[in-house]
Amino acid sequence: MTKVTTGATMSLDGYIADATHGGFEHLFQWYGNGDVEVPTADPDMTWHTSAVSAKHIRDLVERTGALVVGRRLFDMTNGWGGRHPMDVPVVVVTHHVPEGWEREGDSFVFVTDGIEAAVVRAKAIAGDKEVGVNGGTIATQVLEAGLLDEVHVDLVPVLLGDGIPFFAGLKIAPVQLEGPTRVVQGNGVTHLAYRVRKQG
Ligand SMILES: NC(=O)c1ccc[n+]([C@@H]2O[C@H](COP(=O)([O-])OP(=O)(O)OC[C@H]3O[C@@H](n4cnc5c(N)ncnc54)[C@H](OP(=O)(O)O)[C@@H]3O)[C@@H](O)[C@H]2O)c1
Repeated sequence: MTKVTTGATMSLDGYIADATHGGFEHLFQWYGNGDVEVPTADPDMTWHTSAVSAKHIRDLVERTGALVVGRRLFDMTNGWGGRHPMDVPVVVVTHHVPEGWEREGDSFVFVTDGIEAAVVRAKAIAGDKEVGVNGGTIATQVLEAGLLDEVHVDLVPVLLGDGIPFFAGLKIAPVQLEGPTRVVQGNGVTHLAYRVRKQG
């Protein structure tokens, strides 16, 4: 069975991005605070993390077969210049295929018939590997649809005060999670994993 997980770097007050101030330099400080080189599929993007976090990222990349993201993130990154840094196909959930892009490509597949269809499509692409879904509106919808198996948090000791929560606008709270099933202490970040307790 293909596992569906969501993961995000999160501030201690529960935000994955600060819509007002940016705040990325605080959230992603751990991508540059170590001496172990972590290359990505983008030759212009190499991280330098602690050895512990480098292993954490390598394991994640190894396990992941496809991603599901929302249109906002796709637009913000301009489609990661054509290929996601994790070097896996990305299913983009949107109402419209963006101009200049094919509906179906090796790197991006645009799904316009909802979240469940997007997860089905990503599972087919991922095969035995995991499907990773982005935090924000996508993680929330996947959780609400009962399709989410695990939540991974890279917890950073910063308080952003405002921004986009990991589970934005969740309608089915409270949702109980089991764990942590993994606790890994990096430098300026703690890598945590939880299992979603299935309802009913
Ligand atoms: N901290 C971290 O680790 C981390 C990592 C990556 C990203 N991020 C942050 O995550 C945030 C993600 O943004 P977000 O959650 O606000 O938006 P998002 O999920 O990226 O995109 C939302 C958009 O996706 C489309 N969409 C979503 N669900 C849909 C559905 N069921 N059917 C059709 N279209 C649908 C809609 O766009 P259309 O109507 O235009 O089609 C919607 O406005 C960003 O702020 C980014 O910076 C954080």
